[in-house]
Amino acid sequence: EVEDVSYYTEPYRPQFHFTPEKKWMNDPNGLVYKDSTYHLFYQYYPDSTVWGPMHWGHATSADLIHWKHKPIALFPDEHGYIFSGSAVVDKNNTSGFGMEGNPPLVAIFTYHDMEGEKSGRDNYQTQGIAYSLDNGDSWTKYEGNPVIMNEGMRDFRDPKVFWNELKKNWTLLLVAGDHLQIWHSADLKEWEKVSEFGKDKGAHGGVWECPDMFKLPADGTDEEKWVLLISINPGAPNGGSGTQYFVGDFDGTTFTTDQEVSKWVDMGRDDYAGVTYNNAPNNERIFIGWMSNWAYARDTPTEVWRSAMTVPRNLSLKSNNGELELYSYPVSQLNRIIEHSYEEPALELKALQRRKIPLKYGNQSEIVFRLNSPNTQWIFSNMEGDSLEIQLDNMNKMLWLDRSKSGKVDFKEEFVNGKQRMPIPNLPDGDFEVRMLLDQSSLELFLNKGQYVMTNQIFPNADYTVLTMENLSDTEIKIDSISESKMMRVWD
Ligand code: FRU
Repeated sequence: EVEDVSYYTEPYRPQFHFTPEKKWMNDPNGLVYKDSTYHLFYQYYPDSTVWGPMHWGHATSADLIHWKHKPIALFPDEHGYIFSGSAVVDKNNTSGFGMEGNPPLVAIFTYHDMEGEKSGRDNYQTQGIAYSLDNGDSWTKYEGNPVIMNEGMRDFRDPKVFWNELKKNWTLLLVAGDHLQIWHSADLKEWEKVSEFGKDKGAHGGVWECPDMFKLPADGTDEEKWVLLISINPGAPNGGSGTQYFVGDFDGTTFTTDQEVSKWVDMGRDDYAGVTYNNAPNNERIFIGWMSNWAYARDTPTEVWRSAMTVPRNLSLKSNNGELELYSYPVSQLNRIIEHSYEEPALELKALQRRKIPLKYGNQSEIVFRLNSPNTQWIFSNMEGDSLEIQLDNMNKMLWLDRSKSGKVDFKEEFVNGKQRMPIPNLPDGDFEVRMLLDQSSLELFLNKGQYVMTNQIFPNADYTVLTMENLSDTEIKIDSISESKMMRVWD
């Protein structure tokens, strides 16, 4: 057999992010940890690089960084395509699907009945379940599907199920167009709707999708708060799809919040439909998002596969100026794939001065530095004349990102859509960290350890070779602890 030397080396193929071997992928699904294994299922269409009849693809990992591709888990059936959903470990075999000593993995997903949609019926989305007794390698659909019928809503999908400690039952979150519904069940088969949330809360520029909800310690207080994630498409602050969050309370039945403004998990244009792991070890709340945007997802310039997942991120709540903010920061396992690092000498930049730093590791790197005064601009550039510009305007408490000249951009008009803006109201005035992950076709930017995050796809015509640092203020500033790291490729 001839060795396939081209494996995962196509132009723009991420080297340390999850991508399907080939064809179309969208949302992460069924994120669950069981027997020392992280499962990642995902919306998958194995026959094309554009969206089509949805399946659940499957991959597993011991560390959230190195993934093993598994056979397709769920195929469309007579009830429809398999849309987004979640998975649980039914430890006590409440469903009866398990065997002695072998609790089932149960997947809960949306059936999308294409024929129903075409015929003009409204109730074409229902919820179904399936179980696996071999850790997700093979699945059996429940013969009583669908388990939640639809009484006539067009959008009725993306069930997220978790074990509810307050009520000792299974709790399911479902989105119905402009609001969230909460359902309860004892056995994952029979469901009862118990509350609704959101018609008059949050952003409503598009349909609500992919809910998630979990408890986090509210740092700086002795309280715990509940966080609700709701993806919306369109209606994100920088255009197209985005994920908002609400900080509030949950009494086991109803979610409430006094939050008045819309808040966003990630202000970049390419982090959508993100959800978190069930049963992650050490009470960690680990989030993975789909690194694309429905405004142009089908048009990005890759051929063999389409789109990637974000790096897995740890979520936490921190209090700043009396406001609880959701932080998301790469899981520490990512540090294990740093191949080597290079420390740059600190830079002291006089007013309006600029300095160029050579980038040694191409577009497969991590760049970290500390800023002591944030009126700066940093620009990635290459020999092809591409440039990606990020500007921090501390006076107006705003970060700007401009990818209009970052490389290939004209595959779809919506890809550029002006400059992206990210309000940074509570960024500290003193020292803070800037961390950027660059992986062939994406840049993930984390300010102050995940306080503010921006994820974007980019398609440069060559590796960026220079990072220009510019002081935009009229006083001297210092940039130090500058390091550039080469990241290892995670695919053998
Ligand atoms: C979000 C979404 C979900 C749906 C799935 C279909 O990106 O639209 O609401 O279940 O994608 O692939």
